[in-house]
Amino acid sequence: MELGLGGRRALITGGSRGIGLAIARALVAEGAAVALCARGEAELADAVASLAASGGRAVGIRADVTDEADLTAAVDRAAAALGGLDLLVANAGGAAGGGLLDSTPADWVATYGLNVLHAAHAVRVAVPYLAGSDAAAVLLVSSLSAHRPGSRSSYATAKAAESHLAPVLADELGGRGIRVNAISPGSTLVPGGGWDRMRAERPAEFDRFAAEEFPAGRLVTAEEVADVACFLLSPRAAGVNGADVAVDGGQQRPGPRRPTPR
Ligand SMILES: NC(=O)c1ccc[n+]([C@@H]2O[C@H](COP(=O)([O-])OP(=O)(O)OC[C@H]3O[C@@H](n4cnc5c(N)ncnc54)[C@H](OP(=O)(O)O)[C@@H]3O)[C@@H](O)[C@H]2O)c1
Repeated sequence: MELGLGGRRALITGGSRGIGLAIARALVAEGAAVALCARGEAELADAVASLAASGGRAVGIRADVTDEADLTAAVDRAAAALGGLDLLVANAGGAAGGGLLDSTPADWVATYGLNVLHAAHAVRVAVPYLAGSDAAAVLLVSSLSAHRPGSRSSYATAKAAESHLAPVLADELGGRGIRVNAISPGSTLVPGGGWDRMRAERPAEFDRFAAEEFPAGRLVTAEEVADVACFLLSPRAAGVNGADVAVDGGQQRPGPRRPTPR
């Protein structure tokens, strides 16, 4: 299927590694130009170099997305570097603290700021650019945790809010020709990420987790998340708006596999 992403201009927050970098790679493979932002300059430079080596057009912008001025400047710089913006992927995210009793109010504020406020502000600043595109689309990278809470309470709550932001913004921005969707990855194996470390350090526990959680017995890959992201960002998904699409390998099914009673 021709996705119609050639020549489109995309900003991906948190694009220097993991799911964000996989989305950048997939967009570049479709002929889009990308701007990536993250805090770590060395990793950002490596990501941009690897995208350029594959023949893509990529620019890196150092920014902390939890800093309003930094994020505003990053969106403006991305639009200036690429000559406008058609696509925005609010991907940067993460958790501070654990369960309610293992987290502080500051952890909750930080987690909400990183996952929800950064996404909302990035869209706010990008709207004038996106409104100039004939196929503008925003994608918010939420999580399975929005729907099936895990042990990190601030993260699950913030991701639920981030998922809800998609239909809220789709409603507000539809008149400007901007679609807004969310994507909810399940536990995603990214090189050097948390699940990858667990696989290396606690292989038996990792294998048990994969077998119990996923019908196919394996975690989702960042590339699988990126493929769905590309489709949702493309004009071929013009009929999808305000949705939250699960890419969780069936992890969100109603319950773990049960034995069949005889
Ligand atoms: N991996 C999973 O299993 C999984 C599952 C469901 C949902 N998700 C969601 O998917 C998204 C990406 O996750 P991931 O696992 O790919 O994360 P990751 O590997 O930790 O990468 C996060 C990216 O965001 C950047 N970042 C983090 N905080 C930032 C900040 N304050 N300002 C600017 N950039 C920042 C990081 O670069 P710097 O650190 O250099 O800033 C990096 O580029 C997140 O929203 C996460 O909640 C992940």
